[in-house]
Amino acid sequence: MTDKVHDNKLQILGKLAASLTHEIKNPLSVLKLNLEYLKLSKEKFDEETNECIEASLEAADIINQLIHNTLEFSRKNKDDFEECNLNDIIGKAINITKGIANKKNILINLNLDKNIDLIKVNETNILQVFVNIISNGIEASQENSKIFINSFSENGNVCAEVVDEGVGIKEEDFDKIFDEFYTNKQGGTGLGLSVCKTILDEHEAMFNLCNNNPKGTTFSIKFKA
Ligand SMILES: Nc1ncnc2c1ncn2[C@@H]1O[C@H](COP(=O)(O)OP(=O)(O)OP(=O)(O)O)[C@@H](O)[C@H]1O
Ligand SMILES: [Mg+2]
Repeated sequence: MTDKVHDNKLQILGKLAASLTHEIKNPLSVLKLNLEYLKLSKEKFDEETNECIEASLEAADIINQLIHNTLEFSRKNKDDFEECNLNDIIGKAINITKGIANKKNILINLNLDKNIDLIKVNETNILQVFVNIISNGIEASQENSKIFINSFSENGNVCAEVVDEGVGIKEEDFDKIFDEFYTNKQGGTGLGLSVCKTILDEHEAMFNLCNNNPKGTTFSIKFKA
């Protein structure tokens, strides 16, 4: 398993753990309310039963504290966002993916606008997004085809497109491809695009796709000004 796939898997696991933790909160508060209700009528119970109620309440408080700590940890942290040049991030993504592009003799054609504004992002995560999208484009393309990567400004927003000439995506599958573990590839994990979507949501960036005429797919990303 490559480091990238491993990191992606860890990220999904983190998301699952956070949502599970969140969902435990409701049944736990029901449990706690009922225990407190029993404690109100302690004269009805013998000493041993009252000790059990007290111990159960203490245990519920400990779980509550653990949940609080986990949710605090998973809350998104914007402290690591920095001003970055999107063209530089695209350049780094191309360096990472050029090995697999070369194997299929795929030419990556860059059309980057030098005058785009800096964007405030987590550089590592946005690099991860481009590596995933470019890798998908390469995997969907035949040998000797081209991939176009464009950057430009639109109404003050910073935009990028990854355009391939590959097999394309059926319109009815447009939503499905962002689902965790949805893949049409032998050996694929189906995590790439779902991780991209999570990261771009955290950046409040738009993420769209459309099919090209006559063939291929365009993934576009827009960072709000
Ligand atoms: N550029 C593209 N052209 C055609 N199909 C695509 C493209 N990008 C994604 N897909 C489809 O979307 C599916 C999901 O993509 P995703 O990146 O999430 O997972 P994957 O590539 O199958 O596996 P991996 O976890 O290795 O990335 C792919 O299996 C493929 O069917
Ligand atoms: Mg992929």
